[in-house]
Amino acid sequence: MREQLQNLHDQALEALEKANHLEEVESIRLKYFGKKGEMTQILRGMGKLSKEERPKMGALANEVREKLEKALEERKALLEEKKIDLQMEAEDLDVTLTKETIRLGHRHPLLQTMEELENLFIEMGFTVVDGPEIESVENNFDALNSPKDHPSRDLSDTFYIDEDTLLRTHTSPMQIRAMKNLGAPLRIVSSGRVFRPDDVDDTHSPMFHQLEGLVVDKGVTMANLIETLNVFIKEFFGEEMQTRFRPHYFPFTEPSTEVDVTCMKCKGAGCEVCNYTGWSLELLGAGMVHPNVLKNCGIDPDVYSGFAFGLGIDRIAMVKYGIKDIRLLFGNDDRFLRQF
Ligand code: PHE
Repeated sequence: MREQLQNLHDQALEALEKANHLEEVESIRLKYFGKKGEMTQILRGMGKLSKEERPKMGALANEVREKLEKALEERKALLEEKKIDLQMEAEDLDVTLTKETIRLGHRHPLLQTMEELENLFIEMGFTVVDGPEIESVENNFDALNSPKDHPSRDLSDTFYIDEDTLLRTHTSPMQIRAMKNLGAPLRIVSSGRVFRPDDVDDTHSPMFHQLEGLVVDKGVTMANLIETLNVFIKEFFGEEMQTRFRPHYFPFTEPSTEVDVTCMKCKGAGCEVCNYTGWSLELLGAGMVHPNVLKNCGIDPDVYSGFAFGLGIDRIAMVKYGIKDIRLLFGNDDRFLRQF
C-alpha cells in the first residue's frame, strides 16, 4: 500500500504539472478524489488493514492527501490568474489598466496659429488687444465709414441682436475701440471670432476667425503697409513666399487691397489646390485708414495717417497645414486634432 500511495502521489503531481486548463485540473481532482477516485478507494480500504498497520498507513495516506489537495489548489489558482491575463489581452478596453502613459492634450491648431501670428506681430512691435464678439452697429459699421446701404449691413448678411447690437462681422471694430481708447500713435493687433450667416461648406462657416492689425502714426504710407505684410508673410510661411496686392474696395480704407500669397502646395507652379493659378487667394484685406475713420475716432487726418489689415486665421491655418475642409477645425474630432 505504501508503494501504491507513493505511485499515486507521483503520478498525480506529474499530471498536475502538465495541466494547462482549469478543466484538466478538475478531471485530475475527480480521478483521485471523486466518489470512485483512486485516493478515495485507498482511504476506504484502510478498514481492511491490520490494527498495527492501520495508524501508520492512515498517517501516510493523510499526508499524501493533504499534499495533493494543496497541489490541486495551487495549480487551479495559477491557471485562473493566467486565464484573466489572457482575457485582458484579448479585450480592447480594460478599465482597470493604469500603466499606460497619459497622452497630454495641446492647443487647438487654430489657437496655435493665432498665437503664432500674434507672437510674430509682437516681435514687430505690435501690442495685442482684445475685444467683444457682441458689438455695437456703430463700431462694426458706422464708425468704419460703411454707408447705410452697404450690402454687408443687410439683415440677411449679419446676425443682429437688436437694432443697435450685432455679432461682429469682422475684427475691424477693434480699430475703432483701439483708436478711441489709446489714441495716436498706436500699433495693435487683435484676433478673435467673427460671424456671418454663410452656408456651411468646405471653406465657409458662419463663425470664423480674423486677426486685425492697425498702425497709426505720423507719415505712415502704403509702402509701410506693403513692407510690413511682406515681412510677416515671409516670416510666417517662408522666405520663398511672394505676395500679390490686388486693388479692392473696403469702406474704411482708401486705397484698399486684397493680398494673395504664393500657393504653399506648389510654391507658385500651379496645382489643383490653387486652381492652377499659383496663388492662395484672399488671405488678407488691407488698406490705408480712411480719413473719415480717423476723424470718427478723434484723430486729425492732417497730422496722422495709418494702415490696417485683416486676415482670415482659419484660411491661414488651412493653407499652412494643408487642411481642405474648414469643418474639421470646428468638429473637435480627436483623431483630427491629435495630428497637430
Ligand atoms: N474687415 C475686412 C474684412 O473682413 C478686412 C480688412 C481689415 C480690410 C482691415 C481692410 C483693413 O474683409
